[in-house]
Amino acid sequence: MIRIGSFKPDTNIFLAPLSGISDLSFRKICRQFGAGLCYFEMIDCNALIHGQNSPKVGEILTTEDSDSPIAAQLLGSTPEQMLKAAIILLMKMPKIKYLEINAACPAKKVAKKKAGAHLLKEPRILGEIIKLLSSELPLPITVKLRAGFDHYFEKDFIETVKLCERSGASALFIHGRTRKQGYSGEVNYEAIKKAKAAVDLPVFGSGNILDQGSMAKMFELTGCDGITVARGAMGNPWIFDGLNPDNVDLAKRIKVAKKHLGYMKKYRIDGHTHNIGIMRKISILYLSSVPNATVVRSHLSEAKDYEELLEVIDLSPGIAG
Ligand SMILES: Cc1cc2nc3c(=O)[nH]c(=O)nc-3n(C[C@H](O)[C@H](O)[C@H](O)COP(=O)(O)O)c2cc1C
Repeated sequence: MIRIGSFKPDTNIFLAPLSGISDLSFRKICRQFGAGLCYFEMIDCNALIHGQNSPKVGEILTTEDSDSPIAAQLLGSTPEQMLKAAIILLMKMPKIKYLEINAACPAKKVAKKKAGAHLLKEPRILGEIIKLLSSELPLPITVKLRAGFDHYFEKDFIETVKLCERSGASALFIHGRTRKQGYSGEVNYEAIKKAKAAVDLPVFGSGNILDQGSMAKMFELTGCDGITVARGAMGNPWIFDGLNPDNVDLAKRIKVAKKHLGYMKKYRIDGHTHNIGIMRKISILYLSSVPNATVVRSHLSEAKDYEELLEVIDLSPGIAG
């Protein structure tokens, strides 16, 4: 049984935080297939401090009673800023089970603000953030980190991991790639294994978890306590139910894609974040592995609104052949 501080999750297979993707719609779908814990989309501290009532923050924090258990992830660069944002967040969303510090985001605009993976280059600040948040807030604090910034240096990485533990982190979530690798290339299972051996905290592995085989591989090669599923769940939520993408027929894909889009229509703020663009992207994910996927994709990309998208999805068996 895993414990993340005071929180005892029922499973050790979580849906990863996915900016732009893990909204209420996606979380509902993943929970229906068995995801044990989901995250709100990552929130920038500045968005909370300067725009806590903005439509964007409102959309990220859209939830409902059954959307539980849930965690949140904050993007920021200083202890004070992160504490301020965390307090606002917890006032709005007291049901959050644990709060995660993002030390993994590779985006250049994030690095410029000295947040995300940049914190790996400033372990002292990362430690201070963890210390302040874990001493001032009434919930467990966790850290998402990568195997390195430009390169994996075992000694530095293990020092950082130990620093997180010493500073008060309750669990570590490790994407086994460096910031430089972004989202491609080999996953460094060895780094996750070494981290697991170096601390007494629950360690979750992330990276290339795309089907049941790669889930098992992560556990076997690293000895990690749990995993977070990221791209492997996008258009493929049945991964939580023990199914592999190849075993899901087109009829099921269509049914779940339409349900997902229906939730998006219901829960996302109209016209705010180019809904149709996101809806097209979601539809393409569900139908990317069908025969004639390229043709299906081009039709989906041309759909002008929600209704047209549903029409194309309904017609896709004819296109897929
Ligand atoms: C679209 C997208 C958005 C992501 N957003 C976040 C995020 O907000 N916070 C975070 O810690 N990781 C984020 N990630 C990283 C994933 O959680 C995960 O660690 C990474 O994709 C590696 O797993 P995978 O190879 O199985 O996809 C994101 C990944 C993708 C593809």
